[in-house]
Amino acid sequence: MVEPGAERVGTVAPFIRIEGVGKRFGSFRAVENVNLTIDRGEIFSLLGGSGCGKTTLLRMLAGFEMPTEGRIFIDGQDMAGIPAYERPVNMMFQSYALFPHMSVAKNVGYGLKHEPMTGPQRADRVREMLDLVQLGPYAERRPHQISGGQRQRVALARALARAPKLLLLDEPLAALDKKLREHTQFELMNIQEKTGVTFVVVTHDQEEAMILSSRVAVMDKGRIRQVGSPTEVYEYPASRFVADFIGQATFFDGVVRSVEGPVAGVEVGALGLEVQARAVPGLVAGQAVTMALRPEKIEIMRERPEGPNVVAGAVEDLGYFGNHSIYKVRLPGGEILSVLSANARRVGESGRVAVWEDSVWMRFDPAAVILLTE
Ligand SMILES: Nc1ncnc2c1ncn2[C@@H]1O[C@H](COP(=O)(O)OP(=O)(O)OP(=O)(O)O)[C@@H](O)[C@H]1O
Ligand SMILES: [Mg+2]
Repeated sequence: MVEPGAERVGTVAPFIRIEGVGKRFGSFRAVENVNLTIDRGEIFSLLGGSGCGKTTLLRMLAGFEMPTEGRIFIDGQDMAGIPAYERPVNMMFQSYALFPHMSVAKNVGYGLKHEPMTGPQRADRVREMLDLVQLGPYAERRPHQISGGQRQRVALARALARAPKLLLLDEPLAALDKKLREHTQFELMNIQEKTGVTFVVVTHDQEEAMILSSRVAVMDKGRIRQVGSPTEVYEYPASRFVADFIGQATFFDGVVRSVEGPVAGVEVGALGLEVQARAVPGLVAGQAVTMALRPEKIEIMRERPEGPNVVAGAVEDLGYFGNHSIYKVRLPGGEILSVLSANARRVGESGRVAVWEDSVWMRFDPAAVILLTE
């Protein structure tokens, strides 16, 4: 499968260009020096913890806030001085309030209230939008007569009714439970594909960002820490912050002992081992680095395996999740390493790789080691 993030063509002008944008509220810097380009037809996610500036950045795209510094271009046009209602943009707010006294169809039609349309044109458009989100049969119901996921789709239909070129979605799925969220994530992707509208989605849920997006920007304290496809930010995080924020990892301090072509030798005290790792550009002997290991990249077994990057430990804790198990393994130096093992076979109580207190061996591939220098 080709990564959507990898297909970007440099010659096509980006749909959105954000240049050095910052936003201050008084002396507080909510957004700082953001530089980004987003292509037409992307589902682009802004991902970060609470208060990191996601909604503020979205509101600047929508025209509800003006940047303190920098410039925003949408579809080649400088947005400075362009009010929200004149932008080719619609926003679905963090708490998408539907009007409780209006039917589903009237709620969707409300999105068209400023459009120069005849009654029948409006009705056609509403029907088209309800079909898009598969709510045709629910047109006459009130919001309290439909499910949470259906309400979410009504809000989406309302936001899409005016056919914006850009749809901004602030935590669109936050109100939904896990199963419904997953279902709606796929629906959102289908709708994006059908309409071709560019989506910028704000979320603090890293799994959601990974599933939905062509690319993700990871934000921290008003700044963008890394932009990339979901695979890039997960497999090649550029900093400890990103490695920690996206997915699980165990971190170890190490010192580079050798760099020979693509392989670095990194002494990791906590493992009592010189780890073989895939080198990153600019690495030199003597340099202090952080090593990150993802739980699913580590093999766990009872017999000592061959090869480099083998460590011993004892199972301290064990979580059974049905399709996989998580082992918390205590290393000789006392640190705990998390290991994820797929339960590929159906096992009885005694059929597991290991149980509490068992001595185990772990092995990881040099290419699986993430070396971080910041
Ligand atoms: N109008 C305002 N005046 C003063 N400070 C503000 C204003 N709006 C936002 N902030 C502050 O700016 C920071 C970023 O807020 P923002 O709403 O963008 O965060 P967020 O990333 O969307 O967070 P969440 O995930 O909780 O929604 C926060 O510290 C917030 O308190
Ligand atoms: Mg927010």
